[in-house]
Amino acid sequence: MRFEDSIHSIDSTNLEAMRQAREGAPEGFCIIAREQTRGRGRLDRTWQSPKDAGLYFSLILRPRLAKNVWSLITLMAALAVSDSLMKTCALPTDIKWPNDVCVRDRKICGILAETVETDSAAAAIVGIGINLTAEEIAVMPESAISVEAAVGRKIDPESIVAELLRRIRALQ
Ligand code: BTN
Repeated sequence: MRFEDSIHSIDSTNLEAMRQAREGAPEGFCIIAREQTRGRGRLDRTWQSPKDAGLYFSLILRPRLAKNVWSLITLMAALAVSDSLMKTCALPTDIKWPNDVCVRDRKICGILAETVETDSAAAAIVGIGINLTAEEIAVMPESAISVEAAVGRKIDPESIVAELLRRIRALQ
């Protein structure tokens, strides 16, 4: 999967990953969309997902770990995001447990990990939303920041995705 293989528009990459997992999609299956019409955040919140303003990414995992340690998956994903932003954009970030990646206390990425029962076994869906640019977001709250605003220049989403995929695969 590469950034250029992104789906143009979808309700939610997490919802699509759940549908695919129920259909038997394997561990490592991922979806990237340029826009989400029903982007979902934690606690039933909406995740604003205008076209090309963010990275909207979901991954299917089929962990062979005891269920009580599945919550660590969110932390592993946050680490992968943080390391990827450092490597590709020289951008230092902090992980705000359990699911946010921040720059100077402003949220740059949110992670929504969910479980889904499938015929074979339960699967974990790891949804990652990274604010890439603020331009398309009508009102970006003070508590949020985009990668472009944080680094002060245009960024290459393809390189962030490639690095993120590499690091997530290494964690599997
Ligand atoms: C949060 O901080 O509340 C978590 C936000 C997670 C957003 C991502 S964007 C890709 C994936 N698909 C969704 O519908 N949500 C997650």
